[in-house]
Amino acid sequence: MASPTVDELAPRSEDEVREHLASGKLIEGLAHMSPEYLMGIRRILTVSADTELISAPAYLRAAQHAPALNNFGSAVSIIQDELAHAHIGYRLLADLGVSQDELIYEREPGAFKYPYAFDVALDSWYEMVLANALYDQAGFVLLSDVHRSSTFGPWKRALAKVDKEETFHLRHGRTWVKKLCADPDDKAALQASLDWMFILTLEWFGLPDARKTHGIQLEYGFKGMSNDELRQEWMAAVVPFMEDVGLSVPAHHDPEHDRYVIDCPFPARFDAEAKRWLLDDGPIGWDEVITRWKGRGPMNHDYVRRLQKGYRERIAMAA
Ligand SMILES: [Fe+2]
Ligand SMILES: [Fe+2]
Repeated sequence: MASPTVDELAPRSEDEVREHLASGKLIEGLAHMSPEYLMGIRRILTVSADTELISAPAYLRAAQHAPALNNFGSAVSIIQDELAHAHIGYRLLADLGVSQDELIYEREPGAFKYPYAFDVALDSWYEMVLANALYDQAGFVLLSDVHRSSTFGPWKRALAKVDKEETFHLRHGRTWVKKLCADPDDKAALQASLDWMFILTLEWFGLPDARKTHGIQLEYGFKGMSNDELRQEWMAAVVPFMEDVGLSVPAHHDPEHDRYVIDCPFPARFDAEAKRWLLDDGPIGWDEVITRWKGRGPMNHDYVRRLQKGYRERIAMAA
């Protein structure tokens, strides 16, 4: 049996959705949606759920470098949170007519829609806690925006819990970064990882506003802030913290315009295997970045196939 089309699932017209939103009401399910709304909310939920899901194998790899058993426990509890966050997203997608099996277990690794940063391996406890301080901060900025602005009621309510847990993750990162900065050797190791991870997180927020129109995303309230506004919000949280602990980042606050300025070529070319920015090449065009993103990075295949392994073995046995 063919699965129903978006036109069959979402009965309202675009005008009816606009009227519904203009009256201050939330969208509570398919019955309130138009085809465009449905496709848009599916897209943003997929990006969010994929990001949460892939962070689990990425963090598990790094957690193996935990300096003590109780630290490993903290990392594993973060991983468990991320899996629960992914589950919320996929569960909501199932309510919107998407097959969870297809989405999670049958998609090719290259079709997953999380930020490129997770395709680069986290190989130490330094990178684990920096990921909490940088990547979870990015997730927090993005999800807080959705929590404030989303017009999709079920997701908006679920994000109250997610936001609290993300706060714990980034606090875990910051506490550790502060602690490690007290030792010169640890601090140097942190700085070396921060050098590649900071710029990679700047990319997380996507194309600059001049290159991307947000039309429907803002109009239908899938998000409230533009890419550049979100990137600014993230820098406003991260840059002062790094300055406080004595780590250097290629960005500073410009008090005259009250905004953060990036001090290195951006966007830039990245050697993913060496985890190194080729800043001497100068800035590159966003088209080259998009090509790198689309080609995915070194860990994409490994992480996705690991998450799909049990499902695929069961299908193979049943065949
Ligand atoms: Fe999360
Ligand atoms: Fe998180």
